[in-house]
Amino acid sequence: MTTKLDGKALARKLQEELKVKVTQLKQDGIQPCLAVILVGNDSASQVYVRNKKKVAQKLGIKTIDKQLPQTVNESELVDLVTELNQDENIHGILVQLPLPESIDEDLVMRAIDPAKDVDGFHPFNIGKLFMNKGQIVPCTPKGIMRLLAEYQINLDGKKVVIVGRSKIVGMPLIALMLNANATVTVAHSHTKNLKEITRDADIVITAIGQAEFFDMQYFNSDAIIIDVGTNRNEAGKLVGDVKRDAVMGHVAYLSPVPGGVGPMTITMLMEQTIQFAEERESKCNEKNI
Ligand code: GUN
Repeated sequence: MTTKLDGKALARKLQEELKVKVTQLKQDGIQPCLAVILVGNDSASQVYVRNKKKVAQKLGIKTIDKQLPQTVNESELVDLVTELNQDENIHGILVQLPLPESIDEDLVMRAIDPAKDVDGFHPFNIGKLFMNKGQIVPCTPKGIMRLLAEYQINLDGKKVVIVGRSKIVGMPLIALMLNANATVTVAHSHTKNLKEITRDADIVITAIGQAEFFDMQYFNSDAIIIDVGTNRNEAGKLVGDVKRDAVMGHVAYLSPVPGGVGPMTITMLMEQTIQFAEERESKCNEKNI
């Protein structure tokens, strides 16, 4: 039997708690506010941003929407980020990735005030994460850790295989898993004998962006599988990196797509925004502003 790691249900529960926090902040005169920058017209990014704004609205978080054309240049984008950094009413800044190829993504990430970096992509926050001193953590990896904790899955000494090494998922997860005392292996497009590596793992996190790539042959029957893929199959249906129906029933736990990591990512984004607003409130209280 496979236990479903139900990110959708956990996200719903956490969002109820966050709604209460927002109400409290508003009573104290603080309106949590997230600025979202979307460059160009990538359809997947448009959907992600729309979903983030929808959840923010549901929780009472204000969003500031900045849409820029594909042709925007680096300095215009950095100027916008700088302007948002200086606005005291904005607690979090999110630049939806990927950016057009003509723009240096790292330069833009570095322009964000690390204290408003809700995505945790600024090198300062990434560095702190790898030093096990990180409080600002990228949302998808943070959501994965929270989901595992909810099901009381102990990571200490576990063999964790992360498939994919992106800045958004794989890289930060390396730090989080190491900080939790897991034994971490990172596999990627140059890895040989992937099947042997994943089959030996206690926990496999798949984040390669290839629709239904992993079947049962990649996992042992005690494995815990976290599917991070968000892909469309030929019929246009949202599917993960794992062949869900083939694997369900043959592993110990599965976080499926849809209904697993996706809702947790958005919830962690909201949590981080609210946390920044709370920190601003306590700083103002200290200074008696
Ligand atoms: N693109 C895909 N996932 C993410 C994310 O978590 N944050 C941002 N900013 N862009 C993304």
